[in-house]
Amino acid sequence: MSRRIDLAGTKNVDYDKVAEGYDQVRTGDPEMMHQILSEVFLGRNSTILDIGCGTANNTLLVSRNSHARLVGIDLSSGMLHEAKKKTPEIHLAHASANHLPFGNMTFDLAFMTEVLHHLADVPPVINETFRVLRASGEFCIVTQSHEQIDHRMTTRFFPATAEIDKGRYPNIEVAKKHLRAAGFTNVRSKPFTFARIPLEDEYLETVEKKGYSMLHKISEVEYQEGLKELRAAYAAGARLEYAPRYTFIWGSKST
Ligand SMILES: C[S@@+](CC[C@H](N)C(=O)[O-])C[C@H]1O[C@@H](n2cnc3c(N)ncnc32)[C@H](O)[C@@H]1O
Repeated sequence: MSRRIDLAGTKNVDYDKVAEGYDQVRTGDPEMMHQILSEVFLGRNSTILDIGCGTANNTLLVSRNSHARLVGIDLSSGMLHEAKKKTPEIHLAHASANHLPFGNMTFDLAFMTEVLHHLADVPPVINETFRVLRASGEFCIVTQSHEQIDHRMTTRFFPATAEIDKGRYPNIEVAKKHLRAAGFTNVRSKPFTFARIPLEDEYLETVEKKGYSMLHKISEVEYQEGLKELRAAYAAGARLEYAPRYTFIWGSKST
């Protein structure tokens, strides 16, 4: 339920430290993966790379919903340790997206969910992805536009989190420019609004534990103010619902 709610983290998040509890606040996203898979044609021998796969929640979903062979890479050994517990069938590699440990033209599809804003330097990662894709391969980056950040539930109660994240999330047009510069063609972006989900008590509990890393980035005063408002909303029986919004940025590697 708490799948897509702002566990954004920062460029300096130590994912080794948060790895063990990561799956308590974030699960795989079937609809997001469906959106990706429905854009590409994959055969039995296709190979897919999940860049920054984390605990492999999405890697696993794609593996189970396609006939392709899945490979995941991540910079955090802690996240990969969690991933390995549940995905023995998936090849996982400890690597940086800046230096993918694969030969040229290895994959038919590469995707990256909630990783773009963590990258200290985006162009090298996009260049590397272009290199490892086969001719006709596709790359999909799932991220949020600044407008979509404004619509988050966390922004409603903790507005300061939005300003911080807008400083971290690359502008969509800038990201597309990087894709074109790397050689990708047919570069396009698709905003998508997911179905509304009710935010049950566990949302409040997670906020109370500061389970969303952005809550550590705002002042204690801002946090306490937002928490008070949120508790009041729950106490008043408000039905909090949230329709997550994401942008899918695509690029093709033409022959
Ligand atoms: C918010 S998590 C997203 C994990 C997964 N993609 C998901 O959607 O659940 C961000 C992940 O990106 C990884 N990451 C950040 N920078 C990276 C880099 N340069 N190379 C590889 N992985 C990176 C982190 O270790 C972390 O696991």
